[in-house]
Amino acid sequence: MSAWVSTLTCGASSPTAWPAERYRRGVSSSPDFGPINSTTEWAALADHAAVSNFSLRELFATDPGRVDRLTITAGDLTVDASKHLVDTTTVELLVALAERAGVAERFAAMRVGYHLNTTEDRAVLHTALRTPRSDALVVDGQAVSDDVHDVLDAMAAMANRVRSGEWVGHTGKRIATVVNIGIGGSDLGPYMAYRALAPYRHPDIECRFVSNVDPAHLLDTLGDLDPETTLFLVASKTFTTIETISNATAARRWLVDALGDSAAVARHFAALSTNEAKVAEFGIDVANMFGFWDWVGGRYSLDSAIGLSLMIAIGPDAFADMLDGFHQMDEHMANTPLDRNGPVMAALVGIWYRNFLGLATHAVLPYSQHLDRFAAYLQQLDMESNGKRVRLDGTSVDYETGPIVWGEPGTNGQHAFYQLLHQGTTVVPVDFIGFVTPSGDLPGPGEATQHDLLMANLFAQAEALAFGKTSTEVAATETNAERVPHRTFPGNRPSTMMLAPALTPSVLGQLIAFYEHKVFVQGTIWGVNSFDQWGVELGKVLATAIATEITADANTTAHDASTNALINRYRAHRTPGGQG
Ligand code: F6P
Repeated sequence: MSAWVSTLTCGASSPTAWPAERYRRGVSSSPDFGPINSTTEWAALADHAAVSNFSLRELFATDPGRVDRLTITAGDLTVDASKHLVDTTTVELLVALAERAGVAERFAAMRVGYHLNTTEDRAVLHTALRTPRSDALVVDGQAVSDDVHDVLDAMAAMANRVRSGEWVGHTGKRIATVVNIGIGGSDLGPYMAYRALAPYRHPDIECRFVSNVDPAHLLDTLGDLDPETTLFLVASKTFTTIETISNATAARRWLVDALGDSAAVARHFAALSTNEAKVAEFGIDVANMFGFWDWVGGRYSLDSAIGLSLMIAIGPDAFADMLDGFHQMDEHMANTPLDRNGPVMAALVGIWYRNFLGLATHAVLPYSQHLDRFAAYLQQLDMESNGKRVRLDGTSVDYETGPIVWGEPGTNGQHAFYQLLHQGTTVVPVDFIGFVTPSGDLPGPGEATQHDLLMANLFAQAEALAFGKTSTEVAATETNAERVPHRTFPGNRPSTMMLAPALTPSVLGQLIAFYEHKVFVQGTIWGVNSFDQWGVELGKVLATAIATEITADANTTAHDASTNALINRYRAHRTPGGQG
């Protein structure tokens, strides 16, 4: 074990052997094993990959214990990893890599407030958003647990007032629509969860989500709304994001114009933010502000004040159940040996594919229409966290990091892109997600219900990907020999099957935390900072400059020839105010 890998056990609350000073200072630093691909553990995996040519058909035929051994229970999730291109040796080598990288120790350090976000010198404490108040966590002089629960209490009071009709708008009418204005982490989480937990929603309150600076988004959203019964939640960690501030400004204008009184803002606007000064500057009473802290990353903020729209929709009790689900997965992550640990094993097979088998993308395919925004949510979580090309010390990686994450709910995807998954030239590892009990059901063919049909498709797809159909098998029934190669399925295409009892608030929390920790493990092994996002800055800066150039008196020459021509062509033809 390297010195970087301390003597801590998972879940230890006092990581004394952690290189505390380095992370407390927040300076650039890398684990002292150097680049992960210079370790003996990495080399062993590379050697193993060079000689492994796994056949899932063979692995299953020769190993009757495989499914039991590779099925993990993580909270309410049953995670079947048996259809992966791994054997016992692969798993051992991957676990050794995770041990070398100090995954368990670093997770323990994260939970107690070490500044793992070195480039911003911040703690990374989203796990504290779902711990009991009795944890009494204090970090950097802040009583974290107390602060978290004070905000949760304030959110619950607000949610209850809106849900009961006690909170009324400027003209005395109860709220019928909550419009969350935010983008990225201030939109994707609550929007995804609002859709995921549709069966738990208040029947008389609708939530809508506006993110895009494309005016169509706000215009379409407000089109049929009544200002007297609309409550806006302006969700922005920084309260400086141009899309959100532009949309919030337009929404305020819409409201004040309709109600004829700027005092109406006080009853129709609340802010979810870390930036009290900017909230006040915008004109929202800070009494209507629900705060959080710089140690909550945007993409990790659903369970902070950013979740207020969701809490209004499903109620504080269901929201608390969701937080409890998150916490259950945090505890699983912290207290389960690496080879039985769901997020760790998911991360490790991802590393195996990304770094040793050269696979670039990862599909998440939930068999639940209610999870139709889950892949979009995971895209930000994973790609903004681990889409990095330098290590903590600023040196360039010479191995692949974060994969391209994508997906759609089944069965829709089956009639769109699954063709490529089955017979294309690219292998895409898949996470399938299914639920035993649906929120509602319909009669299906024969004795089966529609939910049975959905699940049948789920199981069938994983089976077809893994085991395919050989040319011999095809030829046994195909009379036209020319068609045989076209109807042959190579198989050997890996997938995880995650099953949960039902898509409850708790299970949703568990699922999200599962992926948060998977991303953490991969980022730790790659040695990158999973908690900053400098890669979004350049585009923002350029867009701000170009916005002024578009309305300037003369054409621009400030950019490359292509960009200049594009801006100037747009300037020549633009129609401010739109078609109408
Ligand atoms: O531009 C990326 C980003 O910073 C995300 O990380 C974040 O979730 C999003 O913008 C929105 O930021 P804010 O909540 O500060 O408006």
